[in-house]
Amino acid sequence: MKILEITGGKTLSGTIKISGAKNSAVALIPAAILADEESKIFNIPEITDIDALCDILSFLGAKTTRDSESIVIDPSKMKNKEISDKFSRKLRASYYFLGALLGKYKKASMYFPGGCSIGARPIDLHLKGFEALGAKVKVKGNKYTVEAKKLVGAPIYLDIASVGATINIMLAAVKAEGITTIDNAAKEPEIVNVATFLNNMGAHITGAGTSRIKIVGVEHLHGCFHEVIPDRIEAGTYLIIGALCGKKLKIDNIIPEHLDSLISKMKEIGVDIEIGADYIVVTKKNDYKQVSAQTAVYPGFPTDLQQPFCVLLTKCKGTSNMTETIWENRFMHVPYLISMGADIIINGDTLNIKGPTNLHAAEVVATDLRAGAALVAAALSAEGTTRINNVEHILRGYEKIVEKLQNVGAKIESLEI
Ligand code: UD1
Repeated sequence: MKILEITGGKTLSGTIKISGAKNSAVALIPAAILADEESKIFNIPEITDIDALCDILSFLGAKTTRDSESIVIDPSKMKNKEISDKFSRKLRASYYFLGALLGKYKKASMYFPGGCSIGARPIDLHLKGFEALGAKVKVKGNKYTVEAKKLVGAPIYLDIASVGATINIMLAAVKAEGITTIDNAAKEPEIVNVATFLNNMGAHITGAGTSRIKIVGVEHLHGCFHEVIPDRIEAGTYLIIGALCGKKLKIDNIIPEHLDSLISKMKEIGVDIEIGADYIVVTKKNDYKQVSAQTAVYPGFPTDLQQPFCVLLTKCKGTSNMTETIWENRFMHVPYLISMGADIIINGDTLNIKGPTNLHAAEVVATDLRAGAALVAAALSAEGTTRINNVEHILRGYEKIVEKLQNVGAKIESLEI
């Protein structure tokens, strides 16, 4: 088992280069099987979620070649097979194989996806979308089978602007006959990145990034080159860490507009930030003011940054309120932050965080990916040496987190116990 040992209180300065976006890459990889030829995708992050998707690709017989920055996926010899629980439970995004295999073969069969336990995480909207395109959905225990004689484009309205459902329906609809529209579509930058990839492959998708996406079905998709956008959540995490312990810490290789909601809250708190074309420089200050924030779909404040942001709120004077509106079980970091000295009360879907407090080291557990990121941020700003258990969660989503932090002066080590 791996743990992280972090001795806090160091000032971080230098440059952290942000990797490709996990939530884009995990959709682009299944999307690549829709082509008849190989595609090359650059800026793929080296995280364990990508390893898990590559295992599924090789199980299906698709050839993958990976180097440190890119992946080549050749689906020309692959076969449609049932994806077992062994593969699907490793990550939530394995569900994109449902849409991609349905789009390619008109049939997909797999077990319910895994991922972080941050809420019930149903996939009813994905399934309703597939049904609207003409597929029959069978659910047997944990196993989902979707099958269609043919897929025909249809108007689809999403009750919730779900990222996963929007992408999965695009994957299934891209080769359907006729026109599909997705209304109340999610608008996250990752959706635009996936739509651009599919269009590079010959798809006809317009409106990605707005709440109405239109897909005109095509018969064939070809291989192409594509690049994953920078990871706005990884960037946001390091910005928060910079506000906690940075001195001119440069977060590089990013698209600052993707972080507008976080930047605006950080400015409100009083963080010293300088925004460049593709970087942000952040410096810690000692007199932060309380704020209220609530998570929302893009371009609102990202739920994936709620947990790390709470750590920054422990440094703000007064009572800050952080409301979680997307996931019903995303406060698992709170007891651990309290054990490190934070003053937090859980009030329904809102956290009341009183500050400023000095955090101190403790033995803590990363219960999920972003809770883990929050604990890393807390440990870096705490007095003493914190041990974080269950780091596997963190490694699912943060490329080379130990090296990146060591390079800017953090005392952090990954230990095998
Ligand atoms: C994606 C991100 C995740 C992020 C989330 C919200 C990936 C791999 N993961 O997750 O990091 O926290 O977006 O920004 O991209 N819902 C339903 N039925 C459905 C689908 C969703 O009720 O069929 C609900 C969910 O329970 C949740 C809300 O819709 O309350 C948003 O979920 P969704 O946007 O689908 O999240 P994911 O795509 O799973």
